[in-house]
Amino acid sequence: MSKKILVATAKPFASKAVTEIKNICKQKDYELVLMENYTEQSELVDAVKNVDALIVRSDKVTQEVLGNAENMKVVVRAGAGYDNLDCEAASAQNIICMNTPGQNSNAVAELVLGMMVYMARGQFNGKSGTELFGKKIGIHAFGNVGKHVARIAIGFGMEVFAFDPFVDEKMMIENGVEPLKTVEELYNICDYISVHLPSTPKTQKFIDLRLINIMKPNATIINTARKEVICEDSLIKVFQTRSDLKFASDIAPAKATEMQEKFENRVYFTPKKMGAQTLEANVNAGVAAVNQIIAYFENGDTTFQVNK
Ligand code: 3PG
Repeated sequence: MSKKILVATAKPFASKAVTEIKNICKQKDYELVLMENYTEQSELVDAVKNVDALIVRSDKVTQEVLGNAENMKVVVRAGAGYDNLDCEAASAQNIICMNTPGQNSNAVAELVLGMMVYMARGQFNGKSGTELFGKKIGIHAFGNVGKHVARIAIGFGMEVFAFDPFVDEKMMIENGVEPLKTVEELYNICDYISVHLPSTPKTQKFIDLRLINIMKPNATIINTARKEVICEDSLIKVFQTRSDLKFASDIAPAKATEMQEKFENRVYFTPKKMGAQTLEANVNAGVAAVNQIIAYFENGDTTFQVNK
């Protein structure tokens, strides 16, 4: 009997990605179970019951979901951040968790620059805005997305800086980026801060009063990572006294309404997470996910395992 792969996406992939996943499953003799646009978590809990593998996006793969997945061997988050997977619960059940790093990074990076232009031009309000050329951008965490942001920002004629204690400075320099020794310096000297921290217990609320307070006059924070990495109370506090600062986020922060009421044109939030919402990123991440599952079942390949 062929193995079952469930693709469960509350926010579906572009249809071309689904077609490609279907074709791969057919060729390799896997059964594809598709659950798109579901609205209740209970639907995911039910759907995992008899499947051997699961592909998700930002869908929440909780202990309850895994507890109902008797046959599950592998879960792939088609994307980079896997804070939506309960990796501990998965490990306890010997389920492998993977992500597909790099597959949607360019899409996120293009959105960063798009949001920067949007904010620099006063959200297209018809008044005089500013240009990106000659401005300084600070990349906070220099991973796959950060690298693409640097490449595009250089094309805009920006000066590019980064802070990431886990990345070799040489690699940053090779990418045309000036590494900074402290995160404080990054926030202090840059006109734009592009946030790419993963959300972990250590990074939650990392961008706090101390960093927002020291931002350069007229600076903008662009967050296409996770809302949890920003201390929203601190941001509100500083923005009340610093009317020069701006903030754009891919997905609304928890205190979106309060921020929109207080800061109107200085904040912008996408209604749904848009960073990876491109045809190309969906195809790249979706195809990588299904191929990783098949490589695991056929050859025991665990290259992209994240719950080691
Ligand atoms: C990621 O971590 O890969 C991005 O946040 C994309 O998330 P999405 O697949 O839910 O759009």
